[in-house]
Amino acid sequence: MNAIYPGSFDPVTLGHMDIIHRAAAISKKLTVAILNNPAKKSMFTVDERIDMLRYACQTLPNVDVTSFRGMLAEFVRGVEGQVVIKGVRNNRDFEYENQMAQFNKMLNNNIETLFMPASTAFSLLSSSAVKEIAVLGGDVSKMVPQNVYNKILQKIAKV
Ligand code: PNS
Repeated sequence: MNAIYPGSFDPVTLGHMDIIHRAAAISKKLTVAILNNPAKKSMFTVDERIDMLRYACQTLPNVDVTSFRGMLAEFVRGVEGQVVIKGVRNNRDFEYENQMAQFNKMLNNNIETLFMPASTAFSLLSSSAVKEIAVLGGDVSKMVPQNVYNKILQKIAKV
């Protein structure tokens, strides 16, 4: 199976990394696809997010990191594999992701979405929480990969 794991990854968390490791283990190739949405305020540029993810995934030979603009349903037409992986932490995620999956299927009938339950250790983790805690001076070192933690500290020091 060739799979695509799309998201904002602003920044990538250990919860995302858990899904990436588990999805890579059952895929021939996994493409991590970062949405490039200039309308959305972000902490990290898309290039910074690509660099952080590539570094964090360097031990995973079947994982590629790229970015896309516009609709996911169109992006997946251009890459090998039509299977989209979504991590699901709770009922609220499921409701939202299920709706997205239905829309994506309507837009591109070849897409299959697979939901992967978040591991219990990461079921509360989100990029938004990481950013909020970090900006307020809290310790996020156990929530993100080490290279991402260093980048967050650099980013906050510049603010
Ligand atoms: O990490 P996120 O922010 O939950 O990721 C959401 C993402 C990027 C996967 C989702 O917003 C997406 O696929 N956006 C692309 C635009 C699109 O295709 N919209 C769906 C129409 S229902």
